[in-house]
Amino acid sequence: MYQVEDVRHVIADLTNSSLVVSPWLAYVGGRVRFDSCISDMLYWGTRDFTQAHWRREYLTKAFGTLPVHSRFPRTAVFETAASTAAFLAYEQTGRPSVTERHATDALHVTEDFILQHGFDYFLSSYVMLTMYENHNALNYYGQMREGDFLSGRLHRPWVDYELDDELILSCELGTAELFVDSGERFVRLTTKGRDRLSDYYALLKETGYLDKRNRSLRISHFSEMEDYDSVVQQIAPTAGDLRRSFLDFTTIQPGMRVLEIGCGSGSFTFDAGLVDLVGPNGSVVATDPAPRMLERAMMKRDPHDVPWLDFVQAPAENLPFPDGSFDAVVNMLAMHLTDIPTAVKEMHRVLKPGGIVASFHPLDFPMANSIVQEWFRPVSSLVQQPKRETTMPEKSTVPDAVAPYFRDVVCQETSTPNYYTNPDIVTRFYLESVGLFDDHLTRIPWAERTRLIEETRNNGRRLCSMHTTEELTVEYPVQMLRGIARDLNASPKGCA
Ligand SMILES: C[S@@+](CC[C@H](N)C(=O)[O-])C[C@H]1O[C@@H](n2cnc3c(N)ncnc32)[C@H](O)[C@@H]1O
Repeated sequence: MYQVEDVRHVIADLTNSSLVVSPWLAYVGGRVRFDSCISDMLYWGTRDFTQAHWRREYLTKAFGTLPVHSRFPRTAVFETAASTAAFLAYEQTGRPSVTERHATDALHVTEDFILQHGFDYFLSSYVMLTMYENHNALNYYGQMREGDFLSGRLHRPWVDYELDDELILSCELGTAELFVDSGERFVRLTTKGRDRLSDYYALLKETGYLDKRNRSLRISHFSEMEDYDSVVQQIAPTAGDLRRSFLDFTTIQPGMRVLEIGCGSGSFTFDAGLVDLVGPNGSVVATDPAPRMLERAMMKRDPHDVPWLDFVQAPAENLPFPDGSFDAVVNMLAMHLTDIPTAVKEMHRVLKPGGIVASFHPLDFPMANSIVQEWFRPVSSLVQQPKRETTMPEKSTVPDAVAPYFRDVVCQETSTPNYYTNPDIVTRFYLESVGLFDDHLTRIPWAERTRLIEETRNNGRRLCSMHTTEELTVEYPVQMLRGIARDLNASPKGCA
């Protein structure tokens, strides 16, 4: 039977692929819509594939003598293909409507992955990922009614089948147990189950699986944010001035070839004047991974006739440009949402040696402020010290990350007032879009995450009704950083 070590490489490859097993994204904008012919296509496609490629001996390899139901392999392929189709729909359109093309692509990537890694390894990885969700929920609640566990109502509301095969498997493995209390049946974790949960968590953290899930969730929330410009205007009305002073700080010159990361709705691209500064003798490529954010930015282009501007959908961690293509790479309010070390490395790769990198990003959240503390108490109470509370960079995070790749780094810190006057907007922006506490929120069952976000919103409502605008104004630390790309291929000084 395969152990965590045996599937580590499979989970790592799965993280780097477009496969998705647990479709949290499906719940960002309500239920994913598969019309019946697309569901049928996925159903029959995964059934035919499983019939053609599944071998009985895989069951013994993956699970030894455990009584795993014969429908399990097909369920695993179906759920993976359906989740991947939903993920592709979100990633490509920012909407939960799965088209035939998303379903076909999802079937292909799922099948290719299984054929490449082996059905037994795929199934073992699938089991670990779903066990992680199940065990995590049992650990959080202490115990769950058997009916709640089986329906996945609280922890996997997207599944539309009973989790009985998974429960039987956990009980056979000795990681969960059933018990009766006052005539009702409950499920709880065993000591072995708690140990396994720590192993699964370590595996998913180390392979980057959980971080990737957080980032995807965040990007989807930005896509959903129809009112981005007005949200920023309400929370940080000085953002426009900050963007303009950051543009001066970047030292970008007319005629340069500039890449903008996380352009969002184009506030820095257009409103702060980036495209105008670069002008027709240069070029700007504005990127963002959230498709609907890009749509909003593109809508601002119409009145500007700027043929030197292009939009490309891409995350900072995987830029679709050749090495050395730009004179400057700039990002305004996006670095803190990326996997910073990977994003910095990518920015350096696409820059010419001597090119400019410039970033404007918020720093660690002002949790010491009494309003902030009280507002976010429902979620901050999840944090067990000494862990970091929020996902925000510390003062040294970005400078340390850029140091190996950039020289002559200039850093400036300042602060900007944020207005906590609208409970719905502040809660939605920080908890969902920015994903401030995602490291903690994504470790709890889905229903609990939803409940705590609501509780936070209610806290905000109460605070707003009790305090003046002045009291609800929080100084927020920000950092501007600029550096010059090192030529990492140049021979060190003194060597021939
Ligand atoms: C706070 S908005 C900033 C938008 C714009 N630059 C501005 O000044 O208003 C952050 C943007 O970063 C994008 N983003 C999120 N994750 C990202 C990632 N991994 N790589 C690049 N951009 C990302 C979001 O989609 C969003 O549009």
